Amino acid sequence: MTTARVFVIGHPIGHSRSPMMHGYWIARHGLDATYEKRDVAPEDLGAFVRQFRAEGWTGCNLTIPHKREVMAHVDSIDPAAEAMGAVNCLWWEENRLIGGNTDAYGLIAHLDNSRPGWDRGASRAVVLGAGGAARAATWGLRQRGLEVDLCNRTASKAETLADELGTGVAGHGTDQLAELLAGADVLVNTTSLGMIGQPPLDLDLGPMPAHGVVYDVVYAPLETDLLKRAAARGLGTVDGLGMLLHQGAKGFERWFGVMPEVTPELRRMLEDDI
Ligand code: ATR
Repeated sequence: MTTARVFVIGHPIGHSRSPMMHGYWIARHGLDATYEKRDVAPEDLGAFVRQFRAEGWTGCNLTIPHKREVMAHVDSIDPAAEAMGAVNCLWWEENRLIGGNTDAYGLIAHLDNSRPGWDRGASRAVVLGAGGAARAATWGLRQRGLEVDLCNRTASKAETLADELGTGVAGHGTDQLAELLAGADVLVNTTSLGMIGQPPLDLDLGPMPAHGVVYDVVYAPLETDLLKRAAARGLGTVDGLGMLLHQGAKGFERWFGVMPEVTPELRRMLEDDI
C-alpha cells in the first residue's frame, strides 16, 4: 500500500500547528500517512491541484491566499464552504474532489464539548466582528437554530453580512451592544482584539445574563483579557484553541474515515506551542 499523503498549503505558509495535530492523530491511529506543510504560490495553485489529482493524494488543508481561489479547481463545494465563500479542506467522495469548510463545525463541536457550553439552553448569540471568522461563527450558530446579532465597528459590514446570511441574523454597529448583550446567551468574539500584539477587547460584560457563555476565537494568548473578565463575573468561558482542534478533527475524519479524539494530551501539546 502506498503512504497516504495530506498537505497544508498557503503562501507564505509560516508556522502552522496543523502538522503537529494531524501527526499526533496519524500516530495514534497507526496509519501509514504523512501530513506535510507546503508553500504554494498563488500562480501555482492550479498545478498543485492537478498534481494532487494525478497522484491520488488523500487530502489537503488550505490557508491564505488559497481559500477562495481553489473553488475553481474542485469538482464540488460543500454547503458550509458555499455559505462561507471559503474552502479550508479538500477530500475525495466517490472520485470527486470536494472543497469543504470545517471551521463552523469546529466552533460548534467545541461548544458541544465544553462545559458549560450549550447545556444552558442557548437561543440568542451576539457575534463581534464581520470578517470570515464572524461568517463561520454565525453560520454555525444558525445551524443550531440560534438567533444571531452581528455587531461590528463598521456597522455597514455587519449589515451586509447579515443580509447575506439571511433569516435569524441582524447586523448592527456597536452602539446597541449593551442592550443586545443583555438578551444574549452566548457572546462570540471573532475580532483580532485581545490577540498577542493587539489591544484588548474593551467590552463591559456587565449586561450579560448570569448564565451567559463567552467564546473567544482568539487563542494566542489562550486566556484573553475578555475571558478573564468573563470568568471573574462567573460567566462560562470557551477559548479558541478547541475550534482549531475540532475543525482539524473533522478534516481527519473526511480523509481517513475515523473521527479522532481531541485528547487533553494533544491540547497540552498545542498549548505549549503557543
Ligand atoms: P477574519 O476574516 O479573520 O475574521 P477580518 O476580515 O480582518 O478577519 O475581520 C476582522 C474583524 O475585526 C472586522 O470586523 C473588524 O472590524 P471592521 O470591519 O470595522 O474593520 C474587526 N476589528 C479589527 N480591529 C478592530 C478594532 N481595533 N476595533 C474594533 N473592531 C476591530
